[in-house]
Amino acid sequence: MSARYGQTSTPSNCQIAQIGVRAGARGAPSFCLKYSMIRESAPETAAGSFAPSLSLSKLWMCKLLKQLMRKNNINEFNQVYSLGSWYGNMALFMLLTHVPFKVLVDVDTDAQPLEISQAAFDRLAPRKRIISICEDANHLRYVCSPPSLVINNSTNNMRNEGWFDGIPRGTVVALQGRSDEPQNELNTCRSLGEFDRQYPLRQTAFVGTLSLEDPGDKYDRWMKIGLK
Ligand SMILES: C[S@@+](CC[C@H](N)C(=O)[O-])C[C@H]1O[C@@H](n2cnc3c(N)ncnc32)[C@H](O)[C@@H]1O
Repeated sequence: MSARYGQTSTPSNCQIAQIGVRAGARGAPSFCLKYSMIRESAPETAAGSFAPSLSLSKLWMCKLLKQLMRKNNINEFNQVYSLGSWYGNMALFMLLTHVPFKVLVDVDTDAQPLEISQAAFDRLAPRKRIISICEDANHLRYVCSPPSLVINNSTNNMRNEGWFDGIPRGTVVALQGRSDEPQNELNTCRSLGEFDRQYPLRQTAFVGTLSLEDPGDKYDRWMKIGLK
């Protein structure tokens, strides 16, 4: 894997995300995303968790994970941890976009969204091993046999006090954060460079930005993927 910085362009006159799906080389669906500016309104509810920009951010991660898997001949992840999993949407998008895994563990300190997502997955994907753990990710003990994956779509919502340092060497890591949160007292980065430096990886496959817009809140989503 080689380091690459990607800055997406944002047409100012377009406010609808365009997501194209087509058959990939091996018959699996692949995604063509046009990173157009979209509007986000994300109240902290199950419905809010599906705000367009949050969904597009996760599709963006799935697309890059599929590229990484293809490039590194990874057919399936053994264990996946999704930290700050909220309503389990990342697991749902991985199922929808066919990012294969044996076991996925949703980790969140809030029991309520975990209960809702666990009940949904038990019905939606009864054959899949999707497990919920109600715990502070900073105290988590990972069980990872390569190839495994740790995802954190909530880096800006959580203190960096152990969850990153505890990830075993050799694990694939996929992280997202965001800009423009001056009130955030948990974990604020002021730039993509600061976000990049906060999470050092042995090999960086991708680090880049996606421009998004809320009513009254225009911000960048940052993403970093690589090998710890
Ligand atoms: C607002 S939500 C997710 C936002 C994220 N941008 C997304 O789209 O998925 C953040 C979640 O992180 C969880 N969280 C915060 N600190 C945590 C910690 N230390 N360990 C586990 N979960 C945590 C919260 O309970 C919440 O469900």
